[in-house]
Amino acid sequence: MASVASRYEVAPLRDGLPFGATVSGLTLDMLKDESTRKALYDLWIDKGVLYFRDGDSSDDMHMELSACFGPLEEHLFPSVRSETNPALTKIKFFPEDGSLYDVRGEPRGSWLPWHSDLVYSASINRGGILRPDQIPPRFGKTGYLCQIAAYERLPQSLRDRIEGKHVVYEITIDHGDHTFADTDEVTCLRMAASGEAIQKNKFTYPRVVHPMVYTQEKTGRKVLNVSPGFALGIYEDGSWAGDALLHEVCKYCMDPELAYFHDWQMGDMVLWDNWRVLHCAEGTHPEDTRVMYRTTISGDYAMGRPIGIDGPTADYDI
Ligand SMILES: [Fe+2]
Repeated sequence: MASVASRYEVAPLRDGLPFGATVSGLTLDMLKDESTRKALYDLWIDKGVLYFRDGDSSDDMHMELSACFGPLEEHLFPSVRSETNPALTKIKFFPEDGSLYDVRGEPRGSWLPWHSDLVYSASINRGGILRPDQIPPRFGKTGYLCQIAAYERLPQSLRDRIEGKHVVYEITIDHGDHTFADTDEVTCLRMAASGEAIQKNKFTYPRVVHPMVYTQEKTGRKVLNVSPGFALGIYEDGSWAGDALLHEVCKYCMDPELAYFHDWQMGDMVLWDNWRVLHCAEGTHPEDTRVMYRTTISGDYAMGRPIGIDGPTADYDI
C-alpha cells in the first residue's frame, strides 16, 4: 500500500483491474489542504473510480469531498432530490414504493442497466459520489466499468467503424426497455411514483446525441463514449446495420469480467468519473429497503447536443 499524502492511504481497487483506487482514512479536516484536494483530483482523473473507506462520512464530508472535483448541481428532475438538501439526490427503494423489475426471473427493486448518468441530456454531469443511508441485507451492489479500458480492447476494425459517429439518447424511465443494454429478459413490474412523474412529460424532453469516441483532455487517452442504457441507435445509421454495430460495441462496454461491483458498508463513499465510467445497479430484494445519497458534480464536456427540438429537420420526400 503506497502513501500519497502521509495521512491517508491509496491502494488498487482490485488486483488486475484496469481502473479504480481505494482511499483509506480521509477526514474532513484533510480537505482544508489545497494540495490534498489537487492530489485527489489527479488520482480521480487517472483511475476513474475512487472508493473512500475508513474515513469521515457525513452530509458535510459528502458535500465537501464532492466539491474537490467540481461545482455541485441539483439533479435535473426535482422529484429525485433530497427533501432536506437539494444538492443530494435520494436514490431509494421501499417495499411499498420504488421501481420493481423482473430481472431474468428474479424480482429486483431499482434495478438499473449499465449507463452514464444524464446521458439523455446534452450536458453530462462530470461525476458523482454515492453514499449509503440504509443498506439492504441482500443484493444492492453498484457496478462500475471503465470506458478507456473498453476502447483499448476494441478491435481496430470496430474503432474505424465508430470514429466520427454519434449515438442518439433519450430519457427511458422503464429500464426494461433499453434496447442496447441487455434487457431482453427484464420486465417492469411496478413503476416508482417519481418515475411516473418523469414519464408523464417524456415527450417534452429532446433527444440528444453524443460522440461515440472522445479523447480525455488531460491524458490523451481515448474513451469509448457509449452508454448502453438510454441509447436509441447510431445517429449516422439508423438501419439494422447501424443497430447491429451498436449492439456489437455495447458488448465491449458491458464485459462483466472487467467490472467492479461495490458491496456497500455504512461509511463508504464511491466517486466515479461519469465521462469515462459506466455504472449499473444490481437492484434490491423487493422486501428490503435501500436508500443512497448521491451528489451530482457539474461540468460540460461540450460534445452533446439536442436534436429535433424544433420539429423534424429531415426531408421526408426520399
Ligand atoms: Fe446512475
